[in-house]
Amino acid sequence: MARITAGVGSSHVPLLGVAHDQQKDRDAYFAPIFEGFDWTREWEKTEKPDVVILVYNDHASAFDMKIIPTFAIGCGERYKPADEGWGPRPVPDVHGHPDLAWHIAQSLILDEFDMTIINEMEVDHGLTVPLTMMFGDVAEWPVKVVPLAVNVVTYPPPSGNRCWALGEAIARAVASFPEDLNVQVWGTGGMSHQLQGPRAGLINKEWDNDFLDGLVGDTDRLRKVPHIEYLRETGSEGIEMVMWLIMRGALGKRTKAIHRHYHVPCSNTAIGHIVLRPDNGESFDTRDSTAASDAPLTA
Ligand code: DHB
Ligand code: FE
Repeated sequence: MARITAGVGSSHVPLLGVAHDQQKDRDAYFAPIFEGFDWTREWEKTEKPDVVILVYNDHASAFDMKIIPTFAIGCGERYKPADEGWGPRPVPDVHGHPDLAWHIAQSLILDEFDMTIINEMEVDHGLTVPLTMMFGDVAEWPVKVVPLAVNVVTYPPPSGNRCWALGEAIARAVASFPEDLNVQVWGTGGMSHQLQGPRAGLINKEWDNDFLDGLVGDTDRLRKVPHIEYLRETGSEGIEMVMWLIMRGALGKRTKAIHRHYHVPCSNTAIGHIVLRPDNGESFDTRDSTAASDAPLTA
C-alpha cells in the first residue's frame, strides 16, 4: 500500500533557481537561504521517497488566460522545464508516475473533486525550484513527481478550506493505491510577497511565522483564513500559501515539525520552509532539527 510519510512546505522563488544554476548559492546573500535546506537535503537521502505529489502553481508557462484550471493533476510520463524568458533551466526533466497519478485522478474525481487531467505540459520555477532546494545538483531527480497545479494567479483561487479538503482526499487516494510506495506531499509558493504595485516588497514576518505555527499540531485554524486576509497581510502573491494547506490536509489530524526555516530577504520576498510528519503517535524520527528547543524557530 502507498503511504504518505512526510509533508514539505517551501517557497519557490525563481531567483533561487538562478543562484543555484550559476553556482552562487553559497555567496553571502544566498548562503543563509540555502543553509536552511541543507538539513532537508541530507534527510531526503535517508528518506528516499519514491514519489512526490508536488503541489505548485504555474506562472503562465503551461496555462495562460486561455485556460485556467482550478486544480489540475499531471498524469504524463515526463515534463520538461519551461522557458520562462531566459531559456529552460539546465535541470533534469521531471519524470511522472502515470499509474499513481491516474489512480489519484480517478479517486479524487469520484470523491467529487473535479480535477483537470494534464498529459503534456512544461513545468516552471513553481515546480523545479523546490526540487532544486530539496535535492541540489543532480543528474536525475531522485523521485518521480505527480504535479498538482493550483490556480492562485487569476481570481478566484480556491479557498483554504477547499485546499485542505483536497489534501484529505489525496490521502484517501494514496492509501488505496496497492503498490508499496513511499510518498511525500509538498506544498510550495509563498511566503508573504507582493511583486507589483505600491505595496511591492511587502513582507510580514509575524504573519508568516504564525502560518508556519498553524501547520503543526492538531489545529485546523488555517482552514478558515479568508483570501482577503492573505491579500491584506501577505501581499497579492501571498495567496500562494493556500497550496501549503493541501499538503497539510494530506497529513491527517496531527502533525509534528521536524525542521523549519525562515529568512528575509530573498529577492522581493520572504522564504519559508517546513518539514512535517503525520503524527499518529508513532515515533519514527531519529533526527529532528527542531528538537533542541520547544520554541518555534523564527528569523
Ligand atoms: C517571485 C516569483 C514567484 O512566483 C514567487 O512565488 C516569489 C517570487 C519573483 O519573481 O521574485
Ligand atoms: Fe510564485
